[in-house]
Amino acid sequence: MLETAPPDLFVNWLGPEIWNDSPEMYGRLCWLRKNDPVHWSEQSRIWVLTRYDDVDYVSKHQELFTSGRGSIAGAPLKLPLLDDEIEIHKIHRKMLGRGFTPKRVNALEKNFRRLTQKAILEVLWDGQCDFVEKISVPLPLLLIANLIGIPEDKYPELHQWSDDMILGVGSFNDPTAMERSQHGFVEFARYINDLAEQRKKDPQDDLISLLVGAKERGDLGTYDVPEHRPRGAIQETEESLALGSDEMTMFFVVLLVAGNETTRNAISGGIQLLIENRDERMKLIQHPELLESAVEEMIRHVTPVRTFARTVVEQTELGGRHMYPGQKVLLVYPSANRDAEHFDAPNDFRIDRNPEHLAFGIGEHFCLGASLARMETRVVIEEVLRRMPQIEYDGIEGPTIEPGPLVRSIMSMKVKY
Ligand code: HEM
Repeated sequence: MLETAPPDLFVNWLGPEIWNDSPEMYGRLCWLRKNDPVHWSEQSRIWVLTRYDDVDYVSKHQELFTSGRGSIAGAPLKLPLLDDEIEIHKIHRKMLGRGFTPKRVNALEKNFRRLTQKAILEVLWDGQCDFVEKISVPLPLLLIANLIGIPEDKYPELHQWSDDMILGVGSFNDPTAMERSQHGFVEFARYINDLAEQRKKDPQDDLISLLVGAKERGDLGTYDVPEHRPRGAIQETEESLALGSDEMTMFFVVLLVAGNETTRNAISGGIQLLIENRDERMKLIQHPELLESAVEEMIRHVTPVRTFARTVVEQTELGGRHMYPGQKVLLVYPSANRDAEHFDAPNDFRIDRNPEHLAFGIGEHFCLGASLARMETRVVIEEVLRRMPQIEYDGIEGPTIEPGPLVRSIMSMKVKY
């Protein structure tokens, strides 16, 4: 019923409220896919794209729909890589791509499995825990730290800085959240710069040494263009301006934020699906060869990143609608990934579907960390099914989900096993 009744479309697409994972949210997106797939929101002044083919097309045409004027709608500063123009993006991508080779992902997997087993063993005998707090949050953070080259004794602080920074994502109009976010940023950036100094003298096989090398060669510099300056709710200090305009520092901020909040929610969401779909869980236990397909289906079904944005570069047409330069476009991934034109019974969770989804985006800005995120999700699911095959919600409540336009954030999920 919800799918056919005309929903309320006079909503704020860039605020958190409507992104609450409710049947109403999915009903609205479904109605748009069928009736108004290239929807102009007068209230948010943005085109809202809900069909798979349109999200796919726009993502693959940077010359018409650029990321260069902000890929996160409303974000108060420009981020390297995500918000790069075509030419500079190619250079940055090549440079950073060296840190994400299959060889590196394989090397990280070994340590990640060890950390996952340790985290599970720590809570196993209690018979119950908050899965998000004990497993989904710390593990991706440890992996990013490993990738960057941050030593294990810094993990507690890194955890705090990361939480503070993430608080700002999606709360751009909340001064208190932005203040904490900026504080986390300055502390993290100071630490990264100290570590960079150490690596200059003593390079290691890690991402920080790679980028320090790039900075030394002059491949990374500083931003002096106004859009890289913090705006709105972010308070400018001399130090935050200097740190925020240093390309190397900002790369690490992007990695920390892009790699953590997303993967933690892929993992929590994957466990949520296994708890709520008992038959599929049993099938996976009996057929471990389906694990990779199951992980892909989890990532499609959960779609941890909800939206990214583009800006129209030149006048163009999409789905019979005229789009003009400067207009913003919202790519709605959870909708594209539930498009019945593309997926049979899209709301079903089927571990053998092995879908070609858009949860990692597509085109030039395709997620740089996709292979890492897949590996992390696979390892955690495998270890959970081995040690906690009976995992269930503790009590009647499922996960608590914080509404937000950027990420489907599962804040807590009490489980017993
Ligand atoms: C399940 C987990 C993840 C999801 C769903 C996800 C999703 C995405 C999406 C949708 C994009 C495309 C942005 C665009 O087109 O504008 C993206 C880009 C990116 N992701 Fe991920 N991501 C995940 C994990 C990670 C991890 C683990 C890392 C790093 C360690 C990472 C780093 C990045 C970076 C650096 C970009 C920018 C790439 C570019 O602009 O060229 N992501 N991600």
